Amino acid sequence: MRYGVIGTGWIAKSFIEGARMLCSPEFSAIYSRTEESGCKFAAENGIEKVYTDINEFAKGDFDAVYIASPNRLHFEQSKLMLENGKHIICEKPITVEPEELEELQALAKEKGLIYIEAIMYMFNPAKDLLKDAIQKIGRVTSVHFDFSQLSSKYPAYLRGELPNIFNPALATGCLMDLGIYCVYPALDLFGLPQKITVCAHFMESGADGSGNTGLLYNDKLVNLTYSKLGQDRLGSQIFGDEGTITIESISKLINMKLVDSKGNVTEIIGDVAKEKIMGYEAQAFEKFIADPNDPYYETVKERALQVSKVMKEIREISGIKFN
Ligand SMILES: NC(=O)c1ccc[n+]([C@@H]2O[C@H](COP(=O)([O-])OP(=O)(O)OC[C@H]3O[C@@H](n4cnc5c(N)ncnc54)[C@H](OP(=O)(O)O)[C@@H]3O)[C@@H](O)[C@H]2O)c1
Repeated sequence: MRYGVIGTGWIAKSFIEGARMLCSPEFSAIYSRTEESGCKFAAENGIEKVYTDINEFAKGDFDAVYIASPNRLHFEQSKLMLENGKHIICEKPITVEPEELEELQALAKEKGLIYIEAIMYMFNPAKDLLKDAIQKIGRVTSVHFDFSQLSSKYPAYLRGELPNIFNPALATGCLMDLGIYCVYPALDLFGLPQKITVCAHFMESGADGSGNTGLLYNDKLVNLTYSKLGQDRLGSQIFGDEGTITIESISKLINMKLVDSKGNVTEIIGDVAKEKIMGYEAQAFEKFIADPNDPYYETVKERALQVSKVMKEIREISGIKFN
């Protein structure tokens, strides 16, 4: 399959590597705002054609587009690509507003195109291992998902700069960047909660730097913690009345263990390279393009919309705003 790529950050490079690991893609074009950045990325990643005009790029000779631009641009760029007949795999969060997602899901359907979110959790085979393990820990009574990762951009922010990730105008911040990795497994594993409580900590830029979301169910409490201002070293845990599951990385589902009530430890999965996990995203994307009636495509679309709606509710409760 022939891809065009939007965005020249490190994550685009990881996606290309992952797709090349597990599929046989041809990355034929890159869009960048500048010739310099586009040519550098093209040379480093074996890409032939560089575009600096998004409208020209949209007419390019490729079937699909991987979008890795700042969140605020996802909607308009995805819309333009769909209007030009391209399948889309777009970085998380797929759109800012759930209404935008609904609009583009309808447009993709009308045009017979595949449109999915590049979210590792949904395509990671480790998700099924986790679901099997949950069956072995009795009744799940409480859950703690943590994605706290000290941002490499924080020193620049402290120096008085405004990196994109802390700029609310680009619809970024901690919930949109890291919290989403906790929301996805929570909703996928446990469904919609009866009640949501949220607390967000705001930086001077107006972006949320860290936050807590409590998802209350009839039989359990699921706590989501996320921060860009500190590094988690303990990971996530799912507590059952007959055992506990520990998860080193909730985004990648790596280094997961089951500890039974006697303290015996069984490994569920060890380490897996991030690029490979992103390769699973590309694999599923190509599978859906080959068979748009694949029932998992419906699940992926439904889950994306459900997550987007809950993310909006979390923003409304905690006062996260994008200007
Ligand atoms: N899956 C993952 O693990 C993962 C990890 C990191 C990020 N992401 C997602 O990937 C997306 C990109 O994140 P990122 O950290 O790479 O973002 P970024 O560095 O802020 O921007 C990505 C690219 O977009 C272009 N860009 C930057 N600022 C822009 C602006 N103001 N207007 C228009 N274009 C701009 C730049 O390319 P040019 O200068 O060449 O135009 C840049 O290389 C986000 O949606 C993020 O959530 C996912």
